[in-house]
Amino acid sequence: MVVASAIDAFLVPRKEVRHPYRCVSHDGRAITIDGHRRVLLSGSIHYPRSTPEMWPDLIKKGKEGGLDAIETYVFWNAHEPTRRQYDFSGKLDLIRFLKTIQDEGLYGVLRIGPYACAEWNYGGFPVWLHNMPGMVFRTTNKAYMDEMQNFTTMIVDMVKKEKLFASQGGPIILAQIENEYGNIMGPYGEAGKSYIKWCANMAQALDVGVPWIMCQQNDAPQPMLNTCNGFYCDNFTPNNPNTPKMWTENWTGWFKQWGGKNPHRTTEDVAFSVARFFQRGGTFNNYYMYHGGTNFDRTAGGPYITTSYDYDAPLDEYGNLSQPKYGHLKQLHDVLHSMEKTLTYGNISTIDFGNSASATIYTTQEGSSCFFGNGNENSDAAISFRGESYVVPAWSVTILPDCKTEAYNTAKITTQTSMMVKKSNEAEEDPSTLKWSWRPENMDNFLLRGKGESTNTQLFDQKVVSNDQSDYLWYMTTVKFRKRDPFLVKNMSLRVNSTAHVLRVFVNGKHIGNQHAENGKFHYIFEKDAKFKSGRNVISLLSITVGLQNYGAFFESVPVGITGPISIIGRNGDETIVKDLSSHKWSYKTGLNGFENKLFKTESPSKWSFQSVPLNRTMTWYKTTFKAPLGNDPVVVDLLGLGKGTAWINGNNIGRYWPAFISSSDGCSAKCNYRGAYYAEKCQTNCGEPTQRWYHVPRSFLITEGDNTLVLFEEMGGNPSLVNFQTTIVGSVCANVYEKNVIELSCDRKTISAIKFASFGNPDGNCGSFVKGTCEGSKNAVDILTKECVGKEKCSIDVTAEKFGVPDCSGAARRLAIEAIC
Ligand code: GAL
Repeated sequence: MVVASAIDAFLVPRKEVRHPYRCVSHDGRAITIDGHRRVLLSGSIHYPRSTPEMWPDLIKKGKEGGLDAIETYVFWNAHEPTRRQYDFSGKLDLIRFLKTIQDEGLYGVLRIGPYACAEWNYGGFPVWLHNMPGMVFRTTNKAYMDEMQNFTTMIVDMVKKEKLFASQGGPIILAQIENEYGNIMGPYGEAGKSYIKWCANMAQALDVGVPWIMCQQNDAPQPMLNTCNGFYCDNFTPNNPNTPKMWTENWTGWFKQWGGKNPHRTTEDVAFSVARFFQRGGTFNNYYMYHGGTNFDRTAGGPYITTSYDYDAPLDEYGNLSQPKYGHLKQLHDVLHSMEKTLTYGNISTIDFGNSASATIYTTQEGSSCFFGNGNENSDAAISFRGESYVVPAWSVTILPDCKTEAYNTAKITTQTSMMVKKSNEAEEDPSTLKWSWRPENMDNFLLRGKGESTNTQLFDQKVVSNDQSDYLWYMTTVKFRKRDPFLVKNMSLRVNSTAHVLRVFVNGKHIGNQHAENGKFHYIFEKDAKFKSGRNVISLLSITVGLQNYGAFFESVPVGITGPISIIGRNGDETIVKDLSSHKWSYKTGLNGFENKLFKTESPSKWSFQSVPLNRTMTWYKTTFKAPLGNDPVVVDLLGLGKGTAWINGNNIGRYWPAFISSSDGCSAKCNYRGAYYAEKCQTNCGEPTQRWYHVPRSFLITEGDNTLVLFEEMGGNPSLVNFQTTIVGSVCANVYEKNVIELSCDRKTISAIKFASFGNPDGNCGSFVKGTCEGSKNAVDILTKECVGKEKCSIDVTAEKFGVPDCSGAARRLAIEAIC
């Protein structure tokens, strides 16, 4: 066995020699790998939210950021879109992703679920599953359990076949079954409890050779490990004394919904939550997300999850380092790793200083390591410890690996802040004048004839009719009025009781209105005046989904579509006549013609016209060609001016767009205080702006020689003339660090071109708006930094008074503030 694997390693050169096997186990303190207790830092990267071409770089950045492991969910609906027909191609190549983790020498955490949540369409469940007879998800329902077991087993077998579990020498050290069921199990009653036991037994029987985790499951049966999810988990205690304290989801930011703002969780607060968790005995921390990425195609969950899943994570949507988050956490990981032995084997003692300040001391025979925590939101803590005095800023943790010297404080950032900018496409001579052609979406059959593919005298939920094959479902009926029909009055309207995420209403071919959910209310009543005539009238309702519900007890049966009632209302003086159409003969049609005819394909044979390209026309297809931006920087397409629809690059669906959805103007504030508990609405930005204006175009979707094609299906009406391609790059970098630190500046593969601001003393303001304070060093800081940094990709600066000339700041701590242009 050992000999064979040594030969393998010789024949197939890899960055890391494969282990014949690793023994992953646990005790009450930590996960142990080959008998050693470990401090493990992990980060979530969901493979289908980026492209295979991006994986090596993302994972490498994870490793360089001090991670030990990469975590991912496995999305059932993506892999089994039709029952027993599987897809593991391209972005869905799970095995390739896991092998990329292995090649980088990292561990993997495989959250099979198969319920994921994850702001992923339908939480990761296939809609065909819902449409099986007698189906109820996530409980002791035979049909459900059979399917769940089938999928879970298939994934485990695939992974085993490739020897990817640590027990086989592979990278995967942990597997997960179910997800956060404990949070919603109440409504399932006793059946929920039995279901969790069944899940545990089912998983255990799969014999993966590594521990199984179940997050947020207080009654997790042995040997399942109950783990914690949240913004803070320092108070968490697992239900079994032999389960280590583990955090599967430390939310680095938050997700975004159409109409919502950009979430921002400060770096100081993420670092604080991690340090505090380790101070209080935690040994495994996973960032959810480390790289959020993009909800391509129709993968966004909902309702109303945006295409961007940036999550304010340490790596941004495009894979750029989000600084200072990435760098400040990397430093924390390095410090924690340096203390691995003490943290996992040391005796723990604590000192309470009052006012939410405390010290935790980990001691082994070799030495001790300390955490000084200050959970007070307002006041700094002055601590005296072993004869020395320390100041621990409010809402921060100081780490002293030798219990003497401060190596890290969560609130003192010495990593640069990178300000990202968008640069116009230099491959185009005049990027703002793309030449467009167009086509109308052909709706004659539906608008004029009301003709679908099936009929029923009942209004059905959209999931049931469409099986989620499309966002679009037509509900059509005809209504006949006699010449002098008493119904046929002057004031008539159409009323639709709707749970359509977006509804577009047509009467006799005429668009009479549309409506979408606002303020999270997905059940609303549409009512608009409509003209009916004697004879035959056609009512055509287009129901459009924007990501199916992904969370909650029984979320699978949250209604979507037009479940009625639908009625025509006639008002004649005081008299109101209501004609209920709910049990009329309804004709259904899933999808749109243009999608069926694959108009988004580059080589679509259909006719496109360059003549009188219309603006603000509903249900319209647009097409243009463009040159790929030069270089390797990530590419985005700016869709400002458009309404709502879907975009394709060379036939690749880059997701739903909806720049016309403006977020409300309240709820943002210029000041963001990292102190105090974070919640998703704290520190938001982007108020009063399009929820999402820029859309990621992965480089691998583009060709560098020749023309690329962009196709838009615009359903609301918009103006494509402003559309243009850009790259995202670091525009400037800033730092604001205390004396006696070292600051590294880097323009990320580009050179620093100028120093815009530099002052050593007590400068004020933020990146982009620094101003000199009342004291300043005697030497010209701009000149010094220009010499040391300009023209270089990186430079490293010692912040000392000697270097910048001693300023007289009357005893106050002195800082160097810099803004450099890339
Ligand atoms: C958790 C869930 C994740 C994700 C997260 C919010 O409850 O487990 O999958 O949805 O919330 O981003």
